[in-house]
Amino acid sequence: MSWELLLWLLALCALLALVVQLLRFLRADGDLTLLWAEWQGRRPEWELTDMVVWVTGASSGIGEELVYQLSKLGVSLVLSARRVQELERVKRRCLENGNLKDKDILVLPLDLTDRSSHEAATKMVLQEFGKIDILVNNAGRSQRSLFVETSLDVYKELIELNYLGTLSLTMCVLPHMIERKQGKIVTVNSLLGIISAPLSSGYCASKHALRGFFNCLRTELATYPGIVVSNICPGPVQSNIVKNALSEEVTKSVGIDVAQSHKMVTSRCVRLMLISMANDLKEVWIADHPFLLIAYLWQYMPTWAWWLTNILGKKRIENFKKGLDADASYFKTWKTKHD
Ligand SMILES: NC(=O)c1ccc[n+]([C@@H]2O[C@H](COP(=O)([O-])OP(=O)(O)OC[C@H]3O[C@@H](n4cnc5c(N)ncnc54)[C@H](OP(=O)(O)O)[C@@H]3O)[C@@H](O)[C@H]2O)c1
Repeated sequence: MSWELLLWLLALCALLALVVQLLRFLRADGDLTLLWAEWQGRRPEWELTDMVVWVTGASSGIGEELVYQLSKLGVSLVLSARRVQELERVKRRCLENGNLKDKDILVLPLDLTDRSSHEAATKMVLQEFGKIDILVNNAGRSQRSLFVETSLDVYKELIELNYLGTLSLTMCVLPHMIERKQGKIVTVNSLLGIISAPLSSGYCASKHALRGFFNCLRTELATYPGIVVSNICPGPVQSNIVKNALSEEVTKSVGIDVAQSHKMVTSRCVRLMLISMANDLKEVWIADHPFLLIAYLWQYMPTWAWWLTNILGKKRIENFKKGLDADASYFKTWKTKHD
């Protein structure tokens, strides 16, 4: 075979590989490392059994679905959030799944903003189960309001809950993991910890701060290879996040159910989270297009991303001012066209 032919063949292979990657990307609902792990990596069913997993924000949405899926893997669970009745409801459903007994699930009411209670809560988990293998920092609230119309208290609350509350609980659990030289700290961040969008400036700030913090903590823990720090960054996922989002005043949440059909189904998001946990991935992005594409643009082509976000953002603000759900109308149309 001549050199020329060999070069042509190599170029053709490279082109084919590129086309395959492009097709994979068009169908992707997570970053490509995560989807590779889903295809070739370790299964949650092999890796996560017999673990003690503490999930905050387990009374609703992503956290609720996460504990349902975990309960099928035979783990011991600690369910935390403020609303104890909701946690008891979630516990009952976990028990209906059949794999766990009453003693395997601890309902532990916790307000993430009440930092003085975190040490005692951690002690209670250790008393009950003797160890904490995985802490899932999931509890959090979002925001729907323009900066110029929003009280500073809203910003304080978002930082208290999403950022400082999460740090405080991590600070209580980490010494135990360091002692055992193992553990996973999994934080449910957001694509808004990477990109930015109007109407969520305080939420974006809290999630950007969280991402910066945990990326730094990972480097400080480099001497403990058994301790894994993971950032999970979902795009829009079906849950109560918008209904519970803060608006202009700290006492005022959005309070209404919004359309969910343009968002990722919660069970799919959680399945990908479990894959990430089983494979110790450091950061994962979980989103359908166009949100996933937008995240890649922000990461690799920021100038284009800012241009596009200004266009989409203008529409988002217009919808908000008309009292419509900020995203639903145009992303729903996009999704219907492309599904
Ligand atoms: N859904 C999305 O589109 C999306 C996208 C990206 C990231 N996320 C992130 O996913 C996480 C879960 O949100 P979600 O979508 O499942 O929303 P959700 O349905 O509103 O659930 C939020 C959870 O956080 C808990 N929580 C709120 N304030 C708390 C506090 N002060 N102390 C303790 N727990 C508190 C709530 O329980 P109580 O009210 O009972 O306390 C609830 O269980 C959040 O960190 C959010 O930022 C969501």
